[in-house]
Amino acid sequence: TTGKEADHDDCHDLLIASLPKEKGWSSHQLYLYQGFWCPSVYIREEMAAQHFQARQKDIVLAINPKSGTTWLKALAFSILHRQHYTPSQNSPLLTSNPHALVPNLFLFQGFVDQDLNSNNAHSTRLLATHLPYHALPPSIKSLAIGCRIVYLCRNPYDTFISAWHFFTKASDSLEPLSLNDAFDMYCRGIFGYGPFWDHMLGYWKESSERPQKVLFLKYEDLKDNPILHMKRLAEFMGVPFSIEEENEGLIEEISRLCSINNLRELDVNKTGKFFPHFENKAFFRKGEVGDWVNYLTPEMVARLDKVIQEKMVGFGLTF
Ligand code: A3P
Repeated sequence: TTGKEADHDDCHDLLIASLPKEKGWSSHQLYLYQGFWCPSVYIREEMAAQHFQARQKDIVLAINPKSGTTWLKALAFSILHRQHYTPSQNSPLLTSNPHALVPNLFLFQGFVDQDLNSNNAHSTRLLATHLPYHALPPSIKSLAIGCRIVYLCRNPYDTFISAWHFFTKASDSLEPLSLNDAFDMYCRGIFGYGPFWDHMLGYWKESSERPQKVLFLKYEDLKDNPILHMKRLAEFMGVPFSIEEENEGLIEEISRLCSINNLRELDVNKTGKFFPHFENKAFFRKGEVGDWVNYLTPEMVARLDKVIQEKMVGFGLTF
């Protein structure tokens, strides 16, 4: 390392040491950085991501962890690149995990040499992030540059259960969190990229004020009527489905390709490992709405209801 890099590392360590911290959901502690809880390992990347230069045609997928990131990546990728691939025959999703096809913002540099995310200024780049709206790189928020953001929101009850399963069963956590401890942390806002209410409301407000900039989708709506919401998504992304495509059943085909039952059974998702600490199969559990009723006691539901009521009342976002 050069002297300059060493100085930079020192500053970084000092910054981290000055932040409030809590035990995390996995082996990584969470630090309160810029108003949200961030796994320590990602703070440096997130600082670097602030320099990201968005382009007008970029589409950024923003999602709370465990709220359907994998699904939205699969859908947006398939919709955007449908000229090149037939869903059931040669879609890259048949051999690659969705996370390998849509890079996270701070990993983006590693992906630029991929054809699909080519650096060609005229192509549409698809990126994903868990960052809350206020912490996005300025160029993404810039109205002058005009890139677009798709937010996928999932009800906090199912998100919590999904996260608890993921971090206790699928991760490298040495001492898995009990359901009660995890729930207490979640209700206090201590969850990666959370509090969840700030995450949702940040994008919700932006989408209410600037619907052309931020499309707000709900996991439950997508489950309920995938065709309708995939059409909204395609339109927003600037690649609406044509009447011919609709009549040929292409939307249904993409929906089927991206369904959890289909993706989960593919070899790449049964045995592959894209992220160093998680197997691909950990991203496909049940994919249902309402699984929380099997886990939360009436007292827990009452507590979470109260948190939602206190933090989110008056904004018009309901679950
Ligand atoms: P459950 O744990 O409730 O099953 P993320 O992708 O943000 O990590 O979110 C993971 C959640 O999305 C998990 O929820 C997972 O099962 C669900 N999921 C993954 N792929 C999906 C798909 N194609 N359709 C619907 N849900 C999906």
